[in-house]
This record gives sequence, structure tokens and C-alpha cells, in this order.
Amino acid sequence: MFYGADYYPEHWPEERWEMDANLMHDAHINVVRMAEFAWSKMEPKEGEYSFEWLDKAIGILSKYNIKVVLGTPTAAPPKWLIDKYPDILPVDVNGHVMGFGSRRHYCPNNLHYHEYTKKIVETMAEHYKNNQNVIAWQIDNEFGCHESVCYCDNCLKAFRIWLKEKYGTIKNLNDSWGTIFWSQTYNDWDSVISPRRAVTSHNPSLLLDYKRFMSDSFVKYQKMQIEIIKRIIPSSQITHNFMGQFNQIDYYNLAKDLDFVSWDNYPVINFGDITFNIKKLSANTALSHDITRGLKKRNFWVMEQQSGPTGWEEVGRQLKPGEMRLWVYQSIAHGADAIVYFRWRTSTSGTEEYWHGILDHDAVPRRRYEEVRLIGEEIKRIEKFVEGSIINSEIALIRSFDNEWVFEIQPHAHGFKYMEQLKKYYNYFYRRNIQVDIVNLWDDLRKYKLVIAPGLIMVNDEVAKNISDYVKQGGIFLTTFRAGAKRWDNKMNSTSLLGYLKDIVGVDIDEYGAIPTGEEISIKKDSEIGKASFWYDIVKPNTAKVLGEYASDYLDGRAFFTVNNYGNGKAYYVGTVPDDKMLQIIMDTVLKDVNLKEISIKGKEGVEIVKKTTKSNDLYFVLNFNDKESLVTLNKPMIDILSGQQIEKNLHIKPLEVRILIEK
Ligand code: GAL
Ligand code: ZN
Repeated sequence: MFYGADYYPEHWPEERWEMDANLMHDAHINVVRMAEFAWSKMEPKEGEYSFEWLDKAIGILSKYNIKVVLGTPTAAPPKWLIDKYPDILPVDVNGHVMGFGSRRHYCPNNLHYHEYTKKIVETMAEHYKNNQNVIAWQIDNEFGCHESVCYCDNCLKAFRIWLKEKYGTIKNLNDSWGTIFWSQTYNDWDSVISPRRAVTSHNPSLLLDYKRFMSDSFVKYQKMQIEIIKRIIPSSQITHNFMGQFNQIDYYNLAKDLDFVSWDNYPVINFGDITFNIKKLSANTALSHDITRGLKKRNFWVMEQQSGPTGWEEVGRQLKPGEMRLWVYQSIAHGADAIVYFRWRTSTSGTEEYWHGILDHDAVPRRRYEEVRLIGEEIKRIEKFVEGSIINSEIALIRSFDNEWVFEIQPHAHGFKYMEQLKKYYNYFYRRNIQVDIVNLWDDLRKYKLVIAPGLIMVNDEVAKNISDYVKQGGIFLTTFRAGAKRWDNKMNSTSLLGYLKDIVGVDIDEYGAIPTGEEISIKKDSEIGKASFWYDIVKPNTAKVLGEYASDYLDGRAFFTVNNYGNGKAYYVGTVPDDKMLQIIMDTVLKDVNLKEISIKGKEGVEIVKKTTKSNDLYFVLNFNDKESLVTLNKPMIDILSGQQIEKNLHIKPLEVRILIEK
């Protein structure tokens, strides 16, 4: 396994580097990521390249058997380049230029920037093509972080070309956007706008296309860099560091061109709430891991794993003794094949002075270093068991960027968030230690026993066919209110709800409405009563059977929860947002239809158990996110590969403790 740190030798005197490498080596570090913000050091003036320092750093590291992931430095274009071509700077929604002085100050569609990107990437790739110590490349850094949308004139031009390719004729565009509304008809391509600040809200179809276009712009920009590196180094392994639940770039598309995906994992990033609440954070972090694993349906790297308190303007919570280890093993449990900490040593300058790394500003190895060293030692010991292990989920949750964007543009009900819906369903499984895959709309669903698609407002025939085929062959499917309400161009369907999904789900929607914040609507299933929020669909079953009803006002007795037999499978429908108690009852009902494999280990609240498999073994990661000891029970004897301890039935797991169990 690769175990490492993000390293910025350019921030420190050269005399220090050997000492760093030495300390890294002692901590079992065998990889570093470097150079992703070092453009001005690698090319201090146009065309004057300087790689001696980087060669030297790589040379020193290699003496200690530490390999390198090289970052292309395009997340921070140097000042000389911005001075030469100020049009590289991105433009905000008000049409104002965002200036130099932080990072990510470029427009992904700027042709000057493309030209200089090509030059620096080509020069780096040529320089390092034969360097055996460079084992992988990272393109740029966290695409879309801070700002993901540009409204400059270059983007407008590129947007028009993008639209022309998509729609062919201006009439098609007008039809798809419904520009007849408010007299927005465009007569030719040159008259089409980008959605800069207008008097009031823009056309939702235009807004959605602009999001798709911006997302595609980053995908294309990344691809341009990948192609250069692959041309020069065909065997190169290329990645990018993703941001978990970030939603402004279609991550499935961004992942496609990469050899492997990485992500940056800061579980304790909450500046405001720095209390000891890791139980709440653990589900959220688990979801981000699963989202990342779902991008290529494969294991991934953590390219930035938290190693201390975060901090830009404010300082985040210190990681408690043992906590770093817990987060590291959670990463490995969910599919991380490499752990790279951010960062080796805390910077003494710049915006991130308070973003702590393994070492403090003074580089004195203290507790966090010691923990990193011990984790490194441990990983070395257990990697033969863990290497190649994967998660085999029987359940999939669909996350669709297009659908998420529709709700971002028009949330429907005040405060409604697509991702929060997804989390509700995810958390149900998380609490039960049932592994879930996060998949795209077009992925092959047939390997799953249950597929859940919350907020599937936008469906096209391809998506409908995928779902229909899945249910027909015996799959269990669940979707929620608004399903099928919109066309792929973000216009409303003029056919009755649920559009393409109507037959699969077997219902009509008689009436619907938003539930204003603070208003109470009751729902019931058998003798249980719960609350509904955000939205109600009055569901009229056609072929479906009613399983739950509203119990308030004129909705009383009308259905909100149904199930329909379709082909060899079943489709459930939930026409509202049930509270957690009712959601549990609903999901318990659904799970009765799903013949899930039995879980061999049971834990209590706050103990996460993740099952992974290798060719020879099942592995159970047991992670105690509680601040108290907890009891875990096994239905067969197992061995903890971390401690060598044999456990017959009862395992008392200490706060923040980790066990990795295999059958005896
Ligand atoms: C990440 C980023 C790093 C560093 C870190 C701490 O988002 O990739 O470069 O900025 O956060 O702020
Ligand atoms: Zn732009």
C-alpha cells in the first residue's frame, strides 16, 4: 500500500530536505505528492524553466525509497502569466473580474491559458518521463474548489459552440428551453447569453445547460492535460483529487478519463462546531468515500487525509489521540488503496498557516507524527490481508448530477436539498452497517438487489429503460416524489406524472404541493404515525398497492407510500419526506422484500462495521466512533489482524478504537 504525505519542499530551505525524508522514512512513508502549486518555482519567468530543486528533492526522497506523485501546477497560474494575459482571470456572475491573489484564478475556457497549460505540462512530462521515482501524476488540484463557474466572454463564446453542437439549430434550442416564455426567443447563435446577473431569475433550462457546459469545460481542460502526459509517457498513471460530495462538476465524467480517482478527506473540517461529535461526521465521511468509489466502481486513493486541525482564518478542532487512526481505517474500509496525509509540515506563511499537518511549524515530531508512524507500522504489518480487498454491495443509491442541479436551480420547497434526501436513505443503511454503492443513472443495476433513487425528477428514455430493465428482471426499486416530472432539458413534462416511470411505479399523482416550513402533516403506516415535510404527493394507485397514508386535513386517508409489481420485480414510491422514524419503518418494509446476506457482526450505535472481501477472506472493519466503550457481538469466532487477538463472541471496543476481523 502507498502511505504518504503532501510535501512542499519549495516552502523550506534545501538543507532541511534530507531531514524530512529521514523522518518520513521512519514513519513508513513511501510516497509524497508534490509540485501542484509550484508553477512560479518551476517557471519563474516565461520560458525559463527550473527543475533543479525538484530533481534534487525527488533525488533525496528516492534515497529513502519514497516515490512521487507529481501535480501539474495549473491550479495557481503565476503572476507573470496573469500580467501578460489578464483575460485568464475568471469573471463572476456580476461580470466582475476575480483578481490575482489567492488560487484557482483562471477560466478553464481561456485559450491563452490552454496554450500555457500545454507548455508547462509538456515540459514537466518531458523532464520527468524517464524518472522511475515518479509513479503517478495528479492533474491540477480540486477542480471547481472555491469557484466553479466563469461568466467571461471566452466562456460565452465557448458556450455558444457547445450549444450549437448540442442543438444543431437555433430553433431546437428555443424549443428545448421554451424561450417563448417572457419573450426570450434567440434569433441566432450570437445572440444567446450566459446567465450573468439579470433582473430576476433566468430560464431554468438555460441555467441547467450552463452548469453542464461549465462541468464539461473542466472535463475537457483536464483531458487536454491527460492527453499530453499520455502522449509523452504512455504508461503514466494519472489521477485528480476530487472533493467528496462537491456537486458543481459531473464527477462521473471527470473520472472517466483518469486511471484512478483520488479524493481529499477532511472529516473534521467544521469550523463552527468543533465539539466532539465525530459520530455525526462519520456517516458523512463514509458517504463521501462511497461516492468516490462509485465514480469508477473501483478503489481509490485518499490524496489528502486530515492530519491535524484545519484552519484558514479560524482554527478547527485538534484530532484526539487515536482519532487520526480511526479516520484512516475508515478510508481503507471504504476502498482507499493509498493514504496520503495533508500535509507533511504546517506552513509558516500564506492562507493556510493554520492548516496543520503531521508536523507543526517548528518541525518537531510530536504526538501526531508518532501516531502517523504507528499507523504506518501497522499498515505495513496488515497490508497482506487488506490489499486488493473490495466492497461488494447489494444495494445501490443513485446519485445524478443532472438531477441534483435541477433541485439546486429550483429547490421546490424552502431549504430542500437533493443531497440531504440521499443522505436520509444512506444513513438508514449506514446505521445498520449495510454497505451501499453510489451509482450513476446509466450504470448496470442488475447486480443489485435494491436500487434507490431519491429526487429522480429528470428522466429520459434511456434512464427509464435502464430502470425498467432492472425491475423487470427482478430488481427492487424505490423512488420518491417528483420522479419523472421533468424532461432532460429541464422543461416540465406535459404528460401525466410520473412521466416515463408511470408504469413501473403503477401510480398517478392526483395532486401535489409543497409543505411550508413549520407546517405539520402527519403520515401513518399501520399503527405508526410520523411527520411529513417539504412535499406531498397525493398518490393514486393504478396497479400499485397502498402501504402508507396521510393522516392530516383533506389528505387524510390518501396514499403517500405504495408498491407495484412490475415484471419480476417491485417498485416502491414514497411521495413525501418522512421523518427519520417513519423512514425507518418504510425502509424496514422494503428490506423485507430484499434477501440481503446476513451480517456476521453486530454493533451498537456509533460503531461502524464495514465488510470487505479479498480472494481468500472476508474482512470486517470495526470502527468505534463513540467516546465510550461499546459491545460488538460476533456470530462466529474471528481474529483481529491488528492485535492478533482471538475473539469468540463478545468484543469490547474502546472509544476511537479500530479492529479488523477475519474468520478463524
Ligand atoms: C484542499 C486543497 C489543498 C489545501 C487543503 C487545505 O482543499 O486541495 O491544496 O488547500 O485543502 O486548505
Ligand atoms: Zn471564462
